[in-house]
Amino acid sequence: MNYLVTGGAGFIGSELIKLLVKNGCSVFSIDRHPNKNLDTLGNSVRQVICDISDYSQLLASCSDLPKIDGIFHLAALKSVTGSESERDLYQRVNVLGTENVLKFMEDMKITKLLFASSAAVYGNGNGSKLLSETNAVSPINWYGTTKVLGENLINKFIEDHPDSYSCALRLFNVIGIGEGENPDIKGENAISIILNAISRGTRFKVFGNTHDTPDGSCMRDYISIKDTAEGFYRAMLYLEKHPKVRNETINLCSGIGTSVLQLVAEFRAKSVREFDFEICPSRPGEPGKSVGDPAKTSMILDWMPSTEVSESIHDIMSVFNPISVSQNYSDQ
Ligand SMILES: NC(=O)c1ccc[n+]([C@@H]2O[C@H](COP(=O)([O-])OP(=O)(O)OC[C@H]3O[C@@H](n4cnc5c(N)ncnc54)[C@H](O)[C@@H]3O)[C@@H](O)[C@H]2O)c1
Repeated sequence: MNYLVTGGAGFIGSELIKLLVKNGCSVFSIDRHPNKNLDTLGNSVRQVICDISDYSQLLASCSDLPKIDGIFHLAALKSVTGSESERDLYQRVNVLGTENVLKFMEDMKITKLLFASSAAVYGNGNGSKLLSETNAVSPINWYGTTKVLGENLINKFIEDHPDSYSCALRLFNVIGIGEGENPDIKGENAISIILNAISRGTRFKVFGNTHDTPDGSCMRDYISIKDTAEGFYRAMLYLEKHPKVRNETINLCSGIGTSVLQLVAEFRAKSVREFDFEICPSRPGEPGKSVGDPAKTSMILDWMPSTEVSESIHDIMSVFNPISVSQNYSDQ
């Protein structure tokens, strides 16, 4: 099978490509950047450097592709704070970019699409209950709004194109490390911030300890990078095997909540360098609990993510070298 992966150089995209190649597929990665680890996969992967928000560039750089069986659309900007300060940019990449991918599908007669959506579409969550796909969509930041707009564009496209199929995967928090990759210490997520604190010797801030969770700190649903890639692949196979299913939306989650304080304890147990934390006031608008209901995922994909959070943290810490990272910082 020939697949196209947008955002193929990124954290999830590159792991997905490695999995597709292991399963005998040929992959075309579309990204603004190359990923040198994908070069090691030989002829099965071709990296196309292009910006999905520029349609003529997208079309020109992909003019000689063979017949594509499906697109995994992962390219996006994902910073919640960045989305608020750079709304136009996020609109261009996440919304116009998705519109362009759909136009590309139409022009190239590609019929299957997997979309990386986000739990950010659920906004403030559902109190202490698990978030299911039937919950109202009400994002509280621009990033989440761009994902809702992306889902809406796809729904309309599927309605208008009876020969097309799509599945939006609402990802919760992806954790772990891709094969051959380095841990991300610059991201906004709790894992990157903890690694940053370990390497710089600074205190990690825990925002709030009075939420409605067992230890009072925020609770999130972490799914490993390997399980995430597997979920995407299984969802594409599902579309291929069930031609009557035109359009699905499913959570990609474990249903298991891990609190910030539990994460801190796991990292402390596995870090060669000690690090401290401090409790700070809760951040307004931040849900105490955002944990997905995996019932639909498990029913549709006949599969559940199985990697435990402690195993993902072990994988990260086995390649994370706080000393070389902090030296890089002091060199800057
Ligand atoms: N990582 C998570 O926890 C998480 C959670 C929910 C949803 N998601 C979604 O999953 C997808 C992949 O996330 P990730 O963690 O791999 O992010 P990432 O930032 O590592 O990868 C995104 C990739 O998209 C590329 N890209 C960005 N703008 C582009 C453009 N205009 N044209 C071409 N390529 C462009 C980037 O270069 C990058 O390689 C994103 O859509 C993200 O919103 C991720």
